[in-house]
Amino acid sequence: MTLDYPDLAARIRALCHGETDVVALMATVVCELHHSHPLSDWTGFYRVTGPEILKIGPYQGGHGCLVIPFSRGVCGAAARTGQVQLVPDVDAFPGHIACASSTRSELVLPVRNKAGVLLGVLDLDSNTPAAFTEADVTALTAILAEVFAEAS
Ligand code: SME
Repeated sequence: MTLDYPDLAARIRALCHGETDVVALMATVVCELHHSHPLSDWTGFYRVTGPEILKIGPYQGGHGCLVIPFSRGVCGAAARTGQVQLVPDVDAFPGHIACASSTRSELVLPVRNKAGVLLGVLDLDSNTPAAFTEADVTALTAILAEVFAEAS
């Protein structure tokens, strides 16, 4: 099964139309994405809730760590650097936080609004090695930019 990103983007666009509440948007994106992505075993957002602090937001999958400092893990690296983190092998990523020991690969994208404020990160974790690709990065970057443009 492959993910039809244009179809996913259209569904998310329709569902999120006119909404600016960040948690409502995160919950909707994560639900649609998790149930569409064939290889994501954990899909969720961490929100920036304080200086250099990420706190768990809407997610699907087993329970996630509640708090991640910017200094730690793949999520922290994405928040700290503002760069997408595509990690084909979590064992090769120094400081990876193993919320689930089954996780083999990850993709974490920063989430910003139109003003450039960092709202949080989107984290996809897979039990399959090298589950995520540049196609995921490109499509999800576009979806996040559109959905969270007006969010605060
Ligand atoms: N693996 C992530 C932590 C989040 S959980 O796995 C849900 C990381 O290293 O940032």
